[in-house]
Amino acid sequence: MSLSARLFRTKPASPHAFCDTGLNRCLGAFDLTFLGIGAIIGTGIFVLTGIGAAVYSGPAVILSFVLAGLASGFAALAYAELASSVGGSGSAYGYSYAAFGELVAWLVGWDLILEYAVSVAAVANGWSGYFNNALTAIGIGLPDMLTKAPVAGGLINLPASLIILLLMGLLILGVRESARVNVAMVFVKLLTITVFVVVALFHVQPENWTPFMPFGWFEQGADGRPIGILAGASIVFFAYVGFDAVSTAVEEARRPQRDVPIGIIASLAVCTVVYILVSGLLTGIVPYTELNVSSPVAYALQVLGINWASALVATGVIAGLTTVMLVLYYALTRIIFAMSRDGLITPKIGRVNKKTQTPIRIIVICGVFMSAVAGLVPLGELAELVNIGTLAAFVLVCLGVIVLRLRQPDLPRPFKNPFGVTLPVLGIISCGALMAFLPAITWYRFLLWMAVGLVLYFAYSYRHSHLNQSA
Ligand code: ALA
Repeated sequence: MSLSARLFRTKPASPHAFCDTGLNRCLGAFDLTFLGIGAIIGTGIFVLTGIGAAVYSGPAVILSFVLAGLASGFAALAYAELASSVGGSGSAYGYSYAAFGELVAWLVGWDLILEYAVSVAAVANGWSGYFNNALTAIGIGLPDMLTKAPVAGGLINLPASLIILLLMGLLILGVRESARVNVAMVFVKLLTITVFVVVALFHVQPENWTPFMPFGWFEQGADGRPIGILAGASIVFFAYVGFDAVSTAVEEARRPQRDVPIGIIASLAVCTVVYILVSGLLTGIVPYTELNVSSPVAYALQVLGINWASALVATGVIAGLTTVMLVLYYALTRIIFAMSRDGLITPKIGRVNKKTQTPIRIIVICGVFMSAVAGLVPLGELAELVNIGTLAAFVLVCLGVIVLRLRQPDLPRPFKNPFGVTLPVLGIISCGALMAFLPAITWYRFLLWMAVGLVLYFAYSYRHSHLNQSA
C-alpha cells in the first residue's frame, strides 16, 4: 500500500460499529445531557464573563456569548449527525478516522488530549482559589506555600493537585457512580444560577447597559491584542467547551445512536440560554468596568449587599468547576482508550478492569500527570490554547459531515442536518473565524503542540496502528 493510502486509510463508518468494548453501557439521555451540562458550565460563565465584559466587549458581552453559542451550535449539530451514524468510539477522533483517515485522526486525537488535559489542570487552578477562599471564610485558610506553584512563589498548589486525585478515585470506581455524583453537583450549580438570575432581575439598572458596545466589533487594544465583540466571542468560547465530551461516551451509552445526539444538543441549548441570561443580567446590575475580578458573579451580588446569595454562588462555583473537571477528565481517558485500542498509543495501557469496567491504567496515568501539572504550574493563560484546539476539532467535525455525505451518501443517518450541508459549512466559517480572532501567541503554541504530535505519529503510531497492520 502506498504511503498516502496508508496515512489516509479510513475506518468504515457503519451503524453496526456500535460494538461492545467491555465498558459498562449504563448511560441514558438524561445522564448524557447532565454530563454535557457538567462539562460546559464552569469557569467560562463564573469567571471569564467578567474579563469578557470589562476588557473585550462591554455589556455587549451578551453578543459575544450569542456568537460563540451559534458557532458551537453548528458544531453540535455536526457532532449529533456523526454520533448517530458513524459508530465506533465516538468523538472527533473517531469521526475523523471515518472521514479523513488515520493521520488526521491521530492529529485530532492529539489535539483533544491537549484540550481536555489542559482544561482539567487549568480549571483545577481556578477551583483551588475558590476552595481556599471558602476555607478562609471559616477560619482555616491554607498558607500561600500550599496554594501556589513554585514559579508563583509557593511550594505546590495542593488543593488543585488533590482534587484531581480525588476525581481519579471516583472515575476508577465506575462510570455509573461518576455520573451520579455529576448529576448531584450539576443540580447545585443550576440552583445557584437560578438564585442569581432571580435576585439580579430585581436589581437591573438599564443605564449600566450604556454604552452597549464600548469596544465595537473588532479593534486593536492598547497592548496590541484584539478587542471587541468578536475577540470577546473567541475568549468566552471557553464557556462552551465540553459538550463535545458527550460524544466520547458513545461506548457507555445504552442507546448511543439516539441518546448521544440528544445529550449533545440538549446540554448545549440549556447552557446557551443560561449564558445569555447571566451575562445580560450581570452587566445590568454592575457597571461593566468593575467586572474584571476573579469571581464577577459573586462580586456583583456583594456589591448589591446580598451576601447570602454571594456565598451561595461561591458554593455553586466550587460544585460547577468540580463537574467540569470530572467530565473532561472522563472524556480524556475515553479518547486515549480509543487511541490505544487502535494501536496509535500503546495498547498496554488500555485494558479494562473487569470489576469496575473502567480503563484503570489510563485513568491513573492521566490523573497523576494532571495532578502534578496542576500543582506545579500556574495555568492562567492556557484557556486560549484550549479554545484554539477545540475550535480546530469543531472545524474538522463539520468538514467530516460534508465528506461523509459525499463518500457514503446512503449511510443510515437517524439524525441528519437539514438544508444539505449549509449548517456544517456555516460551522466551518464561524469556528474558523473565532480561531482567527485569537492572539498570535496562542497560534504558535498550538502549532508547536501539533508539530510534536506529528513527530510522535511517525516515531511510533504509524508503525503500530492496528488498522494498517491488518492491511
Ligand atoms: N466550559 C468549561 C468551563 O467553562 C470548560 O469551565
